[in-house]
Amino acid sequence: METVLSGIRSTGKLHLGNYYGAVQNFVKMQHEYNCFFFIADLHSLTTHPTPANLHSNVKQVLVEYLAAGIDPEKATIYVQSEVPEVAELYLYLNMNAYLGELERGASFKDKIRAQPENVNAGLLTYPVLMAADILIHRATKVPVGKDQEQHLEMARTFGNRFNRLYQHEYFPEPYAFNFSENLVKIPGLDGKGKMGKSEGEGNAVFLSDPPEAIRKKVMRAVTDSGPTEENQPKPTEIQNLFDLMQVVSSADTVAHFNNLYNKCQIRYGDFKKQLAEDMIVATAPIRERIEDIAKDEAYLRQVSRYGAVKARESAQKTIKEVREIIGFKKF
Ligand code: TYM
Repeated sequence: METVLSGIRSTGKLHLGNYYGAVQNFVKMQHEYNCFFFIADLHSLTTHPTPANLHSNVKQVLVEYLAAGIDPEKATIYVQSEVPEVAELYLYLNMNAYLGELERGASFKDKIRAQPENVNAGLLTYPVLMAADILIHRATKVPVGKDQEQHLEMARTFGNRFNRLYQHEYFPEPYAFNFSENLVKIPGLDGKGKMGKSEGEGNAVFLSDPPEAIRKKVMRAVTDSGPTEENQPKPTEIQNLFDLMQVVSSADTVAHFNNLYNKCQIRYGDFKKQLAEDMIVATAPIRERIEDIAKDEAYLRQVSRYGAVKARESAQKTIKEVREIIGFKKF
């Protein structure tokens, strides 16, 4: 059975981008593959969270994984820092990752722009840690959104380089995965780019948002004064809202508003109202479970302990073999 691995950074609440880009696939894949889904708390250290924030953010992702339907009996759910073998593999892979290629990474360049006062080495070697996450279980399928494609390419590079250096076909090649063939990029509500946790207030719709908050955010989304000619291409901010509708609404609803747009009869107020209501319906089953699961500390403890044991078992096997391949020997 093929091994699947993916993770989400513990930097706050999950939004529709995380869900449709990643978590929805996790839930489907758990029935078909040997799955590992983790909470990337080591990755979150690049932004220096306080100890209290670190823990509550880890809890948030764990709760939302469970609320979204990841079943700890089917998939292994664990917290990255509880599997120290990952950090060990990261160290070995770092010996084979070069400054030039790391500096050229798109997300490193973005981070330099976003946090110029804190360009630490952890940001530079972020793709190496990500490769370690994947290779530690020798995973081949990695369900992620489009923004992670380059990181997957780097993970293949680092794994292949290790294999070549030690002349041992040890690590398989991991590929980004989505059931719909194409990787997805869910747009934000600000009319500009992707939905993201740090793209500014109002850009992201969170799975835990109450209905009223969703209505407010969607109604505030940027639109224009409407089409003036029939059958014209849509400007980006309108196309983004249609793309969001495509993921939360029925095909009939999308076709209905497309039709109105093409005939210059669309009323953005109605369009956004429908979009908000469909988002509320789509997120309701998850939202309704979040609160109850969050209260059940004993269950969360049990899930994370059980997951850590299973993840370590798999990671220890890899690390033992990697140590042998590298040539460490006991006297
Ligand atoms: P992170 O925490 O930024 O995002 C988690 C997942 O959500 C996806 N995603 C999106 N997909 C579509 N549209 C969007 N607007 C959108 N926003 C976020 C991301 O593609 C990702 O799948 N580096 C990773 C975490 C990580 C990881 C790994 C993932 C660490 N190690 C190993 C896979 C394998 C990250 O920062 O994701």
